[in-house]
Amino acid sequence: TDLVDKGELQGKRVFIRSDLNVPRDAEGNITEDTRIRASIPAIRDALKGGAAVMVTSHLGRPKEGEFTPEESLAPVAKRMSELLGQPVELKRDWIDGVDVQPGQVVLLENARFNKGEKKNSDELAKKMAALCDVYVNDAFGTAHRAEATTYGIARYAPVACAGPLLAAELDALTRAMTNPYRPMMAIVGGSKVSGKLEVLRKLADKVDSLIVGGGIANTFLLAAGYPVGKSLIEEDLVEEAKSIMAMMKYRKASVPLPVDVVCAKEFAASAPATVKKVSDVKPDDMILDIGPETAKLYASLIAKAGTVIWNGPVGVFEFDQFGGGTKAVAEAIAHSRAFSLAGGGDTLAAIAKYGIADKIGYISTGGGAFLEFLEGKTLPAVDILMQRANH
Ligand code: 3PG
Repeated sequence: TDLVDKGELQGKRVFIRSDLNVPRDAEGNITEDTRIRASIPAIRDALKGGAAVMVTSHLGRPKEGEFTPEESLAPVAKRMSELLGQPVELKRDWIDGVDVQPGQVVLLENARFNKGEKKNSDELAKKMAALCDVYVNDAFGTAHRAEATTYGIARYAPVACAGPLLAAELDALTRAMTNPYRPMMAIVGGSKVSGKLEVLRKLADKVDSLIVGGGIANTFLLAAGYPVGKSLIEEDLVEEAKSIMAMMKYRKASVPLPVDVVCAKEFAASAPATVKKVSDVKPDDMILDIGPETAKLYASLIAKAGTVIWNGPVGVFEFDQFGGGTKAVAEAIAHSRAFSLAGGGDTLAAIAKYGIADKIGYISTGGGAFLEFLEGKTLPAVDILMQRANH
């Protein structure tokens, strides 16, 4: 924005790294386009400044050095063109030169089709840097990866800076984590404790209450001595769950566990759902959601919070009979006066499903990057931009 205001983009070649890694269905159709929509302001800014605009991203995790149609950015180019209201040409081979004029936007095909992207090959990064006058990193969702388009290029491009989305994400996350309005609450759901262990530990040291959901909650219930039947759990993390609960208790903070749950005999879209007290779960039961009493309890806590950080659903909300808990949590956040911050792919899908996007304080486009920020880790793509700014 600064460069636009100073007229420094006029006639310049601007290379924007966005995170357009969006979820797709089996036919390759985009099922959720938040990241594409979030990439538009940076592109519009560059166009307004009079630049020739190149945009790229990774999509999925293709084998490098090959073109695979399943991971092509073609559907993204189409959606981007609709959102921008101007053509967006997809450039298949772009490493050795890109033909683009001021006022035009081209999308450079999946950055991970280039050999050396993930390993941040120096040679590749230099070639990319040679394509542009200004490099803009606007890919918060990929900020935890040090790849050629997120890291190396920032070292060699004539000018390197953060785009508006990256800047806004860092601002919102920093605001929520330093000097949060209290009580501060975190809701961490999802299937596994292992994937969220570090973030759980970090939050346990900071928040006033921690709500766990999904498979994570099952492991916590087991750690608290409840029967969990054949629910998804991680036996080897029961001790970790106990230590997190002990730490919270020591700090006089709370981990309000479910008092009732929704169970089924199998994990299936058509599986009949039964509400049970947590102490009544049978050996052949699978816990697939929180129950209505728990939903009410969590909603009342959310209503009193000053800050709510939300990552991960509390039940298998893809199946409607196990979506009541996540829906109740989503609606409570939507009605709460707390500053709410939500992030992660499943969380974005739940927000979309329950139509509450405009009621969330800030929706992060980051999944892994969002978690690493909450863990207090340095994000390499941000770090390299800081290094450039300080030299
Ligand atoms: C994400 O979706 O978290 C980012 O786009 C990063 O993708 P990756 O895990 O394949 O690097």
